[in-house]
Amino acid sequence: MSGTRHRLPGAVPPDVALRRMLRVDHAGEYGAACIYAGQLAVLRRSDKAPVLREMQAQEQQHLDRFAELIVHRRVRPTAMLPFWHAAGFALGAMTAALGERAAMACTVAVEEAIDAHYATQIAALDDDEHELRETLARFRDDELAHRDIGLQHGAEQAPGYRLLSAVIKRGCRMAIRISERI
Ligand SMILES: [Fe+2]
Ligand SMILES: [Fe+2]
Repeated sequence: MSGTRHRLPGAVPPDVALRRMLRVDHAGEYGAACIYAGQLAVLRRSDKAPVLREMQAQEQQHLDRFAELIVHRRVRPTAMLPFWHAAGFALGAMTAALGERAAMACTVAVEEAIDAHYATQIAALDDDEHELRETLARFRDDELAHRDIGLQHGAEQAPGYRLLSAVIKRGCRMAIRISERI
């Protein structure tokens, strides 16, 4: 018997939930790639540039995969992409302008928010979406590795770390809610 028949009132149908999932993940990886682009615009001559480029390349791989998936599954990308481009780049450039450690603090905050987000999605997917679930699990591991790189490069020693981290995480959660729907 189909699970949808027993849906609670107000619950989202599974196909809608899956489209939201792919839309927000595509938007998130797009934003992540833009954040690193913003950081590299400021820090391209810094000794942190190679590690930033490495993380940026991985975000690009994540983005490419979601770009394929949204085409394949006929999911409309979020209408907010141009906005996330500007916001992501600005967040990256501004934190980098505050210093290398602030840039790393930005990475840690973003990746912690994304880790929680992917964990929720992975838990929500059934076995009929095991391939997607494995993709998300792999990307989540990459994001956790990025967080660890941020911590190794002095994120927590950034001036105003706790406030900076709280503001960025809140922004990420807001961006997630918006990109699921719009
Ligand atoms: Fe990513
Ligand atoms: Fe990442």
